[in-house]
Amino acid sequence: MAYTVDINGTPHTVDVDGDIPLLWVLRDVIGMTGTKFGCGAGLCGACTVHIDGVATRSCITSIDSVSKKQITTIEAIGNTPAGEKIQKAWLGREVVQCGYCQSGQIMSATALLASNPHPNDADIDNAMSGNICRCGTYVRIRAAIKDAANGNDAPGNDNHGRRG
Ligand code: FES
Ligand code: FES
Repeated sequence: MAYTVDINGTPHTVDVDGDIPLLWVLRDVIGMTGTKFGCGAGLCGACTVHIDGVATRSCITSIDSVSKKQITTIEAIGNTPAGEKIQKAWLGREVVQCGYCQSGQIMSATALLASNPHPNDADIDNAMSGNICRCGTYVRIRAAIKDAANGNDAPGNDNHGRRG
């Protein structure tokens, strides 16, 4: 069946079964590979996209459930005000290690900042707890989210948050 989905402001028509996960459509049908496959079971957060602005696991979201919604992926998140701040802060803190989890991390962090411009530690933990990083970049992620919230593009010279 044909479904037309709005991805990053562009309509894409795909001919797939309705129960195929959005992640498969993004990566294998449309060829947008910035969104990653990790567990395929809603447990790791690597596949996170925004659906109508809400951070959502695309590996457990069927294509027929999103055909009337706005989907934003890592490829376009930098065009949003919160996404731009988060990406600058990520660079400033040199958050990324292997990088595999990071598109999902950035999508969750951006959804947090868009809905809560000044999150405290508990807010950050709640928003980010479903995004797993096997490289253990959690300390830098938290610092980068705070930098983005405070309007800091780059950290100070104390190296706070650069390790861990
Ligand atoms: S791949 Fe979707 S939550 Fe892990
Ligand atoms: S940076 Fe390697 S899994 Fe997170």
